[in-house]
Amino acid sequence: MGGAGFQKWAWLLVVGVFLRQVDARGFEGIPGNFCRNRKPSECCEDRHDDCAVPVLGTFCYCDEFCLNGDSKHDDCCPDFRQVCLGAKPGIPLPPAELGDDPEVLQKACEVNGKEIPFGGSKAFNCNECKCEGPAAQCEDDPCMVDEALIREVNQGSRRYGWRAANYTQFWGRKASDGLRMRTGTFTPDEWSSKMYPVIMRVDASKIPRSFNARRAWKGRLTGVRDQGWCGASWAFSTLGVAQDRLNILAKGITPVALSAQNLLSCAELGQKGCQGGHIDRAWNYLRRVGIVMEECYLYESGWSRKVPKCYEQNEGRSDEGCKNHYKTEPAFRISEKEEDIQWEILNNGPVQALMTVHPDFFLYQTGVYTHTGLGGKGSATHSVKLIGWGEARVMGVGVVKYWLAENSWGSSWGERGYFKIRRGSNECGIESFVLAVRARLGNFVYGRY
Ligand SMILES: *[C@@H]1O[C@H](CO)[C@@H](O)[C@H](O)[C@H]1NC(C)=O
Repeated sequence: MGGAGFQKWAWLLVVGVFLRQVDARGFEGIPGNFCRNRKPSECCEDRHDDCAVPVLGTFCYCDEFCLNGDSKHDDCCPDFRQVCLGAKPGIPLPPAELGDDPEVLQKACEVNGKEIPFGGSKAFNCNECKCEGPAAQCEDDPCMVDEALIREVNQGSRRYGWRAANYTQFWGRKASDGLRMRTGTFTPDEWSSKMYPVIMRVDASKIPRSFNARRAWKGRLTGVRDQGWCGASWAFSTLGVAQDRLNILAKGITPVALSAQNLLSCAELGQKGCQGGHIDRAWNYLRRVGIVMEECYLYESGWSRKVPKCYEQNEGRSDEGCKNHYKTEPAFRISEKEEDIQWEILNNGPVQALMTVHPDFFLYQTGVYTHTGLGGKGSATHSVKLIGWGEARVMGVGVVKYWLAENSWGSSWGERGYFKIRRGSNECGIESFVLAVRARLGNFVYGRY
């Protein structure tokens, strides 16, 4: 019994010595009284693990054992040499007046009932607090997940018509990062904003009260993607519309997804990759060069946040399908008229729409979205896919018309990746710039052989 106890004690001693040597950091030059203020005695002989004084979130020592190691890497207290050994030449004595009480220097900070050790930091949602002085220094930026806004929207849900959720994937992110990295479509330049809308012959009597392209062309639409933390909605909405229309046209063949990475990496002229892009340039690239299938060029920018250089898509691949670049006809604009947009979706499939994203949109869970005007300021231009429409009864508001839209934030956001937004009132600019394209089946050798 006694022997085993001794062994354990000896083992702890060895570990203790090892840890102390590893932890040694050389505290010389830090002003203040450390060993000098120790009670009951200033210094200890030989080694005493409790002969320690807190410094910079760790401990320094006032026993002779602290000298183990060279002077730059020992763990002696800053004033050990002066107080315990008598001052040595070359080591300046700190002025006595500056010798603040170490207890005050090393005090932990308290924020929202949480303690932050001196020299440490702690994140509160998207804001970091640092304890470097008597009070913590905290950032104060709007977060993507704004808990007060969630409460406000959900309590007033009769008024707003939609419900908000706390998304884990957005927790700890600043609203400004969300606006930068979850959108990414440049507002159309001169040329495209003057693009004249096509004239449509709409038979309003044939427009149903509700429509969902996913049901109308069952199994032909490939579904929700996730752009990740890369502001490339310009690429996702463009390819989403292109591939839906291709798949609708190519009945009976396995639907394909087109490679966003291909567009992002290769159509780089005038584009800013994960910092955003122009949809008119994206459509021009699809018309001139074309895009390979997703499986030939997998998406990686959402996690790396970098856009790798374009590589030859066929490199090292024996798969014939990867040599095909799918091209479209030139994109065209549809007027802001609700019926024109409906007519185009009804007859030819989903369309691309620009929209302004405000920070409350990050929290959308279900219902018919309208901008609340609450929460963080700032906005960004995004682009999404309109795939249908309908009407919903909203308590306290009555019947509201909505567009059914597909976002590119993954399927855990919103209604399995989709959302409804107020229709007919140009909510967030959703009707102001709508594009469509004709698929070109002829020059695309479809699918696998
Ligand atoms: C929101 O989610 C985060 C992380 O998942 C959690 O820490 C926080 O307490 C949640 N807030 C609310 C109001 O549920």
